Amino acid sequence: MAIKTVGIIMNGVTGRMGTNQHLIRSIVAIREQGGVVCKNGDVIMPDPILVGRNEEKLKRLAETHHISRWSTNLEACLLDEYNIIYFDAQTTARRAEAVRQAIKAGKHIYCEKPTATSVEESLELARLAYEAGVKNGVVQDKLFLPGLLKLKRLIDSGFFGKILSVRMEFGYWVFEGDWQQAQRPSWNYRKEDGGGIIVDMFAHWRYVLDNLFGNVRSLSCLGATHIEKRYDEEGNPYVASADDAAYATFELEGGIIVQANSSWTVRVNREDLLTIQVDGTEGSAVCGLRDCKIQHRVNTPKPVWNPDIPNPFNFFEQWQEMPTNDVYDNGFKVQWELFLKHVVLDEEFRWDLLEGAKGTQLSDLALQSWKERRWVDVPELTIGGTKHAETVNGTKSEWLD
Ligand SMILES: NC(=O)c1ccc[n+]([C@@H]2O[C@H](COP(=O)([O-])OP(=O)(O)OC[C@H]3O[C@@H](n4cnc5c(N)ncnc54)[C@H](O)[C@@H]3O)[C@@H](O)[C@H]2O)c1
Repeated sequence: MAIKTVGIIMNGVTGRMGTNQHLIRSIVAIREQGGVVCKNGDVIMPDPILVGRNEEKLKRLAETHHISRWSTNLEACLLDEYNIIYFDAQTTARRAEAVRQAIKAGKHIYCEKPTATSVEESLELARLAYEAGVKNGVVQDKLFLPGLLKLKRLIDSGFFGKILSVRMEFGYWVFEGDWQQAQRPSWNYRKEDGGGIIVDMFAHWRYVLDNLFGNVRSLSCLGATHIEKRYDEEGNPYVASADDAAYATFELEGGIIVQANSSWTVRVNREDLLTIQVDGTEGSAVCGLRDCKIQHRVNTPKPVWNPDIPNPFNFFEQWQEMPTNDVYDNGFKVQWELFLKHVVLDEEFRWDLLEGAKGTQLSDLALQSWKERRWVDVPELTIGGTKHAETVNGTKSEWLD
């Protein structure tokens, strides 16, 4: 058994996602479980160096999680050949510049979504990585949520018959920050800092739809900035210049129609922060982050419209829960493990920077649709005219096998 140590530059690791999902729940968890065990018994052991601006924060974070390396000097970390992966969870607007630098230094790239704030820039990153021959990946964590994995099992089994439509409800109330502290960083509500729910969430919707149901072909989107004034981390008021809700319709390859509401200005009256309802000729399903319930054609009750009598049905009782037959690990960690195997063992990893660019393409087109008040088509995205990564869809992709 050989231990293969992998030096990873983790930039933006003091942030919400960087600390919680990527450092604690992924890299530290992988180290604590004894690394990623390969089929031949070898072990891949990630060895992170925590990078940021604030020495004190980095030192504290490193000490808390028994990590020996931290630095405020990104350039020096990039020059060090021991570090072979560059990971980025900085605020979105800062990502492209740092990723460009890391590609130039010959590092493999793994980063948060969105990869950039415009499709041109995110496509440029994909092209640069491809030309440099470095391995690259983008976080597409929702694909690894237990609820979505259960939904995928239903799709693969043919449970739905022909899928007709999908309804996605995402969101919750994000406090304005005056009388209660906001639960998300303030840059998310400032367009000039890379914020906005369309840029943020459509990056997720693209890979969820492409991978589960079929490639997105066209869309119509109406955005809104419902709350115009918010309060930042210091309690200072600011103008919320970015969209905080988006009401979109997508048409997928094969004719499936998707309605997606995304909002940070909605109070939750559903079973989870994200619910996806799928209606098909043979059956329907509704999944949340962890659970998924179904109603087959043969079990579908017959409601009759009659407001003159009390409603005789409890509609929620008419669904059957999917069992949790598998043990589901944290989705961010699962994807990290796959990426590490991709880098060290050259195993397949399909969620690359081009897939990431498709997410930014969708948000760009949604913003265009909103601005021009019209439907827009989604052209195929390629690097330099050649199709680089094979487009996948739900029936073919087996991302956990
Ligand atoms: N995959 C997901 O589900 C998911 C969820 C939320 C956010 N995200 C993405 O993760 C990224 C980070 O989001 P977050 O919520 O953790 O944000 P955050 O504000 O909590 O963290 C941002 C990080 O960037 C660093 N940073 C900010 N400004 C900087 C500057 N001027 N110079 C150097 N470093 C700077 C901060 O120090 C911090 O480490 C965003 O791109 C966001 O879109 C992904």
